[in-house]
Amino acid sequence: MIVKNCKLTNFRSHDYFELSCWKETTMLSGENGSGKTSILEAIYEAMRGKSFRAVDKEIIKRGADFYRVELEYKDGEKTTVVYEKDGKKYFLVGDKKAARLPQKYRYPVVLFEPDDLNLINSSPSHRRDYFDRYFGQLSDTYSTTVSKYNKALRQRNELLKSTFISRDAMFSWNIILSRLGVEIWRSREKLVASINEELTKVYQSIAGNDDEVVIKLKADPCGRTESDYLGELEKGFEKDKVLSHTSFGVHRDNYEFWFNNRLADGSASRGEVRSIVVALKFIEADMILKTVGKAPVVLLDDVFSELDEMRQKALVYNFKKNQVIITSVNAVEDIETS
Ligand SMILES: Nc1ncnc2c1ncn2[C@@H]1O[C@H](COP(=O)(O)OP(=O)(O)O)[C@@H](O)[C@H]1O
Ligand SMILES: [Mg+2]
Repeated sequence: MIVKNCKLTNFRSHDYFELSCWKETTMLSGENGSGKTSILEAIYEAMRGKSFRAVDKEIIKRGADFYRVELEYKDGEKTTVVYEKDGKKYFLVGDKKAARLPQKYRYPVVLFEPDDLNLINSSPSHRRDYFDRYFGQLSDTYSTTVSKYNKALRQRNELLKSTFISRDAMFSWNIILSRLGVEIWRSREKLVASINEELTKVYQSIAGNDDEVVIKLKADPCGRTESDYLGELEKGFEKDKVLSHTSFGVHRDNYEFWFNNRLADGSASRGEVRSIVVALKFIEADMILKTVGKAPVVLLDDVFSELDEMRQKALVYNFKKNQVIITSVNAVEDIETS
């Protein structure tokens, strides 16, 4: 889908703002704090159903009663998001009104924010969130399974805090977590393997050398069958009760980046780390296109200025088939695409 325009009302610092987009690349430049990321946030919300960085009560312009985003696609389709200050939120799509953005009106987006450049050196939970969002766009089942898992995990953790814990109640959450946990682990394994098939090749095309990059999913080997998983949850019960949280499960998985057979965190240079993340973004856009059959809209938030010319060119070249919306403090000019 190609975004034609996006109108924001009372969205963060914007009273009203209208962005018309080009089919290929749209540039948004402005000072820090001028509201650039907010515009991408509005587009993302209308395309994915929620913001990538905040909850609605933080988004609504301070002092306003509502916010609205109206996004029009090139083929005439429209999505309107309305949030009222009493907490009511709805989406208008086609002739329907819905509390959540219906699946068939969600379109793929690849977002690249400056923080992503720290992906390799940041926390395991940051990487888990990153890959959950990535994999969730490839498969609705994956994203539903992860949200069901997280909900069940929260319930189990709540139960662990109570003074009287019924074994039966605990057992039913253990069963649910084992089933969903194994399913999540299997999907992650498969998707990481698909990324690895491309990663070194794409990395080398950006960096122009022979370095090798591999992502390893670090998951507890006891979580590979439902019965083993269940056994671990039961074994950990006393410890979990003391901690008031669940110490075993896929919510503890980690993704490690390996660079020439060493952990990239610590061995790869800043520039190499950046190239790895850029490579990952290309693969993400490509996997979405191949799996979902739609070229994602690419939102590049302030990353251009963070990259050197070689990586900037690689970025523009590789996203040639996508609609790209770029924000930058300085106007970006003269980026050749061939
Ligand atoms: N709910 C809100 N109401 C009004 N202003 C807001 C709200 N949320 C953020 N802002 C303001 O918006 C500006 C940040 O917008 P942002 O899109 O992040 O800017 P940029 O990406 O151009 O640096 C800040 O000045 C911030 O104070
Ligand atoms: Mg910004």
